[in-house]
Formats: sequence, structure tokens, C-alpha cells
Amino acid sequence: MNAPGIRIAASLLSADFAHLADSVRRAERAGADWMHLDVMDGRFVPNLTFGPVVAEAIRRITRLPLDTQLMVQNPEVIIPALAKAGVTRLTIHAELGPRRVSALLRLIHQHGCRAGIAVNPATPVARTYPWLDRVDLVLVMSVVPGFGGQKFMPGVLPKVRALRSEMERRGLSRKIHVEMDGGITRDTAPLAVKSGVNVIVAGSAVFHHPGGISRGIAALRKVVTRVAYSVRPPG
Ligand code: DX5
Repeated sequence: MNAPGIRIAASLLSADFAHLADSVRRAERAGADWMHLDVMDGRFVPNLTFGPVVAEAIRRITRLPLDTQLMVQNPEVIIPALAKAGVTRLTIHAELGPRRVSALLRLIHQHGCRAGIAVNPATPVARTYPWLDRVDLVLVMSVVPGFGGQKFMPGVLPKVRALRSEMERRGLSRKIHVEMDGGITRDTAPLAVKSGVNVIVAGSAVFHHPGGISRGIAALRKVVTRVAYSVRPPG
């Protein structure tokens, strides 16, 4: 039984890259709703991951949406190739500045992908407001991006409540996903959902769960379903 509208996105950054296909298939079989791809360039964040070649390989082995976060200094360089690789959504960071964000959202849509906008913990969530009518997802980071396995930053939770109020005010509540990423575990996921998050991104809690990927996803599904029905009854 899935909680009303809550989605679990498995963050591949924490997967076993020596057996990536197996990790992806296990996460899908275990009930992950989305795959979360962290594209990092070693400049926007101090880590370097993967790009279109890996995204294309993942596209070939799963039917799940590929929710792709661009933590790169120059997203325009790889947006066309990632779109061609078959990613579903490309999320860019508000920290790139308003002029570039506007052009990048246009470029993402021109290449047929959905668009999202992300804010780091230190960035006011209001920096996403000018773009709410051009995205279908806002990502509120609950860690400083770059690495998995970091500690959840509860100080970002009020940003979700403020975002939800702004979306309500503008009649956008059912048009935009509110996603949270970083330090999401069975203990912190309920805090996120209670604040108004409907997409939780989890890396370590899924791929490093002592009982395996399936147990990791089941544990998250259990806690978010319980809390979602308490805050948002079905229907
Ligand atoms: C951090 C990444 C996250 C990270 C989540 O920069 O964007 O997706 O992989 O990993 P956990 O769930 O372990 O914090």
C-alpha cells in the first residue's frame, strides 16, 4: 500500500558501482518509485560522478523515471546528451543565478525533459519562487550536496513549509513535487513528509541497509505510509 502521493527515489550515488545494473534492478524490484541520478562535475560540488553514458546504460535496464540532479557548473554542456540518454527530469540549482536558471529551464524543456529546481541548505527557498510555474519539482537539499552518507539537516524543514504555503497561495500544490535529499532515513523521512515533502531521495538508507536494498526500501515505505496517512488522508 503506497502512501498518498509519496514517492521513494533511490539515489544511485550510494549504489555498488561495480554491480550497478544489479543495484538498479534490485531497487526497482524492491519498489523504488524513481531512480535519482547525481551528476557531479568536481567543480559545482567537490565530487565527480557520471554523465550521459551511464545514464543511457541505466535507461536501458529500468522503466522507472530517471530523476537527475545536475550538480555541475555548466549544465548547458550536458543537458542535450542527458536528454538524448533518456532521463526523465533534469533538476538544476538556483545557486547558478536567475539569468542562467531561466535559460537552462528553457533548454531542458526544448529537449523534451521535465525540469526541476534545487536549493542547497543555505539558500533561501524563495529563490525558487520565480520558477514555480516552469518546473514540476522543487528539491530542498537536506545536506550540502556532494556525497552520500551525510547527516540530515533539520534546519531546512521550515523551508518546505514555506514552499508549500507559496504553492498553495498560487494554486500549484498539485502541480509540483516537493523533494528532499540527503540524510533521509527511517527516522528523518517522517520529519520530511510531515513538513510537506512528497518525494524522498535515499541513498545509504537503501543501498547500505544491513538487510539489503529490499529491506531498506520497505523500511522507508513503512514509516512514510504511516505518517502520510496522518497528515494527508487518502483521496
Ligand atoms: C548528495 C546527493 C544525494 C545523496 C543521498 O549530494 O545529491 O542524492 O546521494 O545519499 P544519502 O541518502 O546517503 O544521504
